[in-house]
Formats: sequence, structure tokens, C-alpha cells
Amino acid sequence: MTSDTITIAPFDTAHVPDALGLSRQAGWPHRAEDWGLTLSTSRGVVALGGGRVVGTALCSLLGDVATLNMIIVDEAMRGRGLGRRLMDAAMALAEGREMRLVATTGGLPLYEKLGFRSVGRIHQHQGLAKGGLPDLPVRDGTVDDVPQLAAMDEAASGLQRALLLRRIAEGGEVLRADRGFALIRSFGRGDVVGPIVAEDADTARALLTEAARRREGGFLRVDLRDPALVPLAEELGLAAAGGGTAMVKDARSTPATLAKTYALVSQALG
Ligand SMILES: CC(C)(COP(=O)(O)OP(=O)(O)OC[C@H]1O[C@@H](n2cnc3c(N)ncnc32)[C@H](O)[C@@H]1OP(=O)(O)O)[C@@H](O)C(=O)NCCC(=O)NCCS
Repeated sequence: MTSDTITIAPFDTAHVPDALGLSRQAGWPHRAEDWGLTLSTSRGVVALGGGRVVGTALCSLLGDVATLNMIIVDEAMRGRGLGRRLMDAAMALAEGREMRLVATTGGLPLYEKLGFRSVGRIHQHQGLAKGGLPDLPVRDGTVDDVPQLAAMDEAASGLQRALLLRRIAEGGEVLRADRGFALIRSFGRGDVVGPIVAEDADTARALLTEAARRREGGFLRVDLRDPALVPLAEELGLAAAGGGTAMVKDARSTPATLAKTYALVSQALG
């Protein structure tokens, strides 16, 4: 198969099984449900060759910002310009919005060529959670809290994603502190805690500690946007497991706010 015979087509739910095969081949832990959560807020494209999906790229629309994710080319088809074709198509789906992504080492050169610039590191930590006691009170929240939490999340991230947060809260757990919140949901090999949004690092630490306490002995992952929580993650049994480079293109200024994103929903969704 040559790259000339590959066509780019809109991503359809019928492509999920093939797409899942590609993310597994890339060593990513996503299940069909995890693709489903990202697809619930995304448009996307596939590269089709020989009757099957040989590449994917999604563009998640989160208000004035789009995140580009699940950019994968079949190992056998890499280095022939397919990644760039998929990215061009996914970037067009952003329709002029600010674009963000988290780059793997393999993807970084492509994104730099496309005009993305690095704005920080994402620290992925995971492992069997060890329990601890939070230094600040953390209580249960409910789905009814989502509008308020989504407003805080938007202030911190610039992302409008109340529907996405509602969907996560409906199937997961909502943790609330006086000055922040966190969500836990199942993902990949176990559970993930994110986002963690807080007005100060102590609140973010309390939320991460409580998540680990609730998942003690289970596999837990967190994608930290702020290195301040790295030592605590290690203490809680969540070892460094790579991460990526946060990148942006066509950035708009975001208002200054006390609220800050300490951990992402996912590398795909910011
Ligand atoms: C990242 C990935 C999608 C790239 O796909 P690809 O089809 O091999 O990419 P392309 O052939 O279109 O190459 C894209 C550009 O990057 C350049 N490039 C690729 N690897 C490079 C490297 N190591 N150093 C410098 N440039 C590099 C290519 O020369 C090309 O530039 P050009 O368009 O100016 O010629 C693919 O490697 C992949 O699926 N990796 C595993 C999953 C992954 O990590 N995805 C990224 C998630 S953020």
C-alpha cells in the first residue's frame, strides 16, 4: 500500500474497533469507552487504506478552544506524510479556534513544523494507590454541582466543557473541597483522577490524597499539569510514567484567575 492510495474520511463510530487497535499498537491503554468519551465532544478523521483504518486524528471542540488528540498512524505506514495529512485535516476541523495538544516525543517534530509551541510538561503518574489522609476537608459532590464546577474549570483552563464534566460525574465520583474539586472515573487499566482544579496547591494536594485514599490498592493514574504535585504523587504510590509536552497554536489570552488546573481530564481533552 502506498500513501497515494490512502484517503482521508470523516471519523465514524464504526471506525472505533480499528481505532482501538491503533491506540493499542501505540501502547496506549484506552478502551472503547475511553475513545467514546473523547468522541462525545469531538469531530475527527481517519486515514483509510486497503479497507481499514490506518490512521486517526480527533479535534475536540471545547468552546473557543479545540484540543487535537488520538493522532496515530499505523506503525507500518509511518514516515510517509500521513501524520501531516491527518493533522492538516484535524486542524481544519478546529475552524479557527485556539488549538492545544499534548505531544509525545514521536509527535513533537511534526507539531513544531505545524507551528505549535511548547508551553509546559505534563507529568503522567500511575500505580497502585497508597492511602493517606488529606490535610484539608474533602467531601462528596454530586452531578448537580457540575454547573458550578464547570465554571471554575473554565476559569482555570479556558475550556467550556460542562457536558463532558457532567458525563464524567455521572459515571464517576465528584470530590469537593472549599477551594477546589476533582473527578474520578474509570479509564484504561484502572481509574484516573482529573481534572483537579483548585485555588491553591494545598487544596489540590488534599484532593489527590483523597482520591488515592478512595482507590487504595487499585490502579490509579493522574496527568499532572503542575509539577508541585509530583512529590506527593510519588508518595501515594503513583510513579512517573512519562507524559508529554503541552503545546498550543493560535493562543488567545486567558483571563487571570485564582483557579488553576493541577491535573488534566486526560492528555486528549486538556
Ligand atoms: C506521530 C505520528 C502520528 C507521525 O506520523 P507519520 O505519518 O510518521 O508522520 P509524517 O510522515 O507525516 O511526518 C510528519 C513530519 O514530521 C517529520 N518528522 C517525523 N519524525 C521526525 C523526527 N524524529 N525528527 C524530525 N522530524 C521528524 C517528518 O519529516 C515530517 O515532516 P514534513 O511533513 O515536513 O516532511 C506517528 O509517529 C505515530 O502514530 N506515533 C505513535 C502515536 C503518537 O505518538 N502520536 C502522537 C500523539 S501526540
